[in-house]
Amino acid sequence: MENKPKMQLVMQIGSGYGLDQGAWRMPNADPAAYMNVDVQVELAKIAERGKIQMIFFADTPGLATDISNQPPQSPMDPIVLLTALARETDRIGLLTTISTTYNHPYNVARQLKALDVVSKGRIGVNFVTTSNPVAAMNFGENVPSRQERYERAHEFIQIVQALWGSWGEDALLLDVENGKFADVSKIQPVNMAGSYVQSRGPLPIPPSKQGQPVIFTAGGSEETLKILGRYGNGLYTNPYDRKTASVYREIFREGAKRFGRDPNEIKVFPGIIPSIAPTKEEALERRRQLDRKMDLRGRLQYLGSMIGIPLSYDQIDQPVPVEMLEHAFANPQDPRSDYALKLVKTGMPIRDVLAHGVINYHPVIVGTAEDVADFMEEWFVNGACDGFAIQPDVSFDGIRDFVDQVIPILQERGLFHEEYEGTTLREHMGIPYQYGSMEKPLTARNFQD
Ligand SMILES: Cc1cc2nc3c(=O)[nH]c(=O)nc-3n(C[C@H](O)[C@H](O)[C@H](O)COP(=O)(O)O)c2cc1C
Repeated sequence: MENKPKMQLVMQIGSGYGLDQGAWRMPNADPAAYMNVDVQVELAKIAERGKIQMIFFADTPGLATDISNQPPQSPMDPIVLLTALARETDRIGLLTTISTTYNHPYNVARQLKALDVVSKGRIGVNFVTTSNPVAAMNFGENVPSRQERYERAHEFIQIVQALWGSWGEDALLLDVENGKFADVSKIQPVNMAGSYVQSRGPLPIPPSKQGQPVIFTAGGSEETLKILGRYGNGLYTNPYDRKTASVYREIFREGAKRFGRDPNEIKVFPGIIPSIAPTKEEALERRRQLDRKMDLRGRLQYLGSMIGIPLSYDQIDQPVPVEMLEHAFANPQDPRSDYALKLVKTGMPIRDVLAHGVINYHPVIVGTAEDVADFMEEWFVNGACDGFAIQPDVSFDGIRDFVDQVIPILQERGLFHEEYEGTTLREHMGIPYQYGSMEKPLTARNFQD
């Protein structure tokens, strides 16, 4: 049992509420949570108590949702949050999303390396290219084409890695006696110039305990695969079923090999949304309660399009009439449609179909802690993932319940570690120390002093 492969876990903390739009209105929730960093600190400490490998912040630099009836999604700059959390936690990894489209590599390299030193080697960065027009407008731009976004991302990451490595590993002398602070021959400019971003360097920061931050990316496209294969050690992804997840994980691993990488150094984390209660029925009631705190009209209409039947709001507490079911089909445009149709065909009320989370961004597991552990075990032992990015429906109690109820079951089954393997994020993930870039293909440029 001891030698069984162990899954790794990422806990999404976000703005402190949880994934569900109604989370801020739940009993015991702090409706102003995102302005109170103590909420994030408390949630991070609970995750650390559960020996979870890392916490994670998604991020979009812009107000992209209607906040008339729900909180904003990533309102606070995650670098600020991570700085606070680095001081309040000891072991847990700290992973944030950074847009390569709306930042400059020098700022990002500097902030993340500083944080990696401050946190004693616990930082990871999820590089995304951000296609949201609201974010683009905040920088006075239109969304660049996909090709431009990804060309820039490659240049961006190569420069960031080179800057991280620009301070030689043994350049710091601190020789008080002889007055020698650093060996400047080992601290050299990077002089890198791409078509989108350029930087001279060097960065005046020595290596952290893990060398430099761990690189992640998010998504599942061919372009994501190249970013992951060339530079990444982690992937946040969103498959809806186990078979698809397994096929994709194999593709990602093969992709890594193409770039001469060891596929075991690439960890794939699909998102899941646990909705935990003492019984399945209570878990479903928790979901219904959350749903009552939001307007379901849009979701109902969308469910109709998933099963090819127009649904009206008056029907929400009824099953889909049998005579209409004859015409139902699973819309091939949305991979979640099969599951939605299967639930509709059981004859449960439409409200309950929605309560099962058929329209959520990740699979929702509505049930007991045991049900959640079963789901995770099935995906993990069948090679669908290396672990999971957990996004509780409601953070206030969801993170605690996951840690106190699901983790002991996973440990009992030999599927999750009992203790951190080390102190750095790289040690938590079982990936090697890395310093600087693996390649330097950008054109050299001579910057004038
Ligand atoms: C699971 C997942 C998580 C993502 N998280 C973020 C995020 O936090 N911030 C962001 O700006 N974009 C995020 N993205 C968007 C991607 O960066 C990308 O722009 C999007 O998937 C569009 O695909 P394309 O870039 O391949 O056209 C995420 C995408 C996926 C699939």
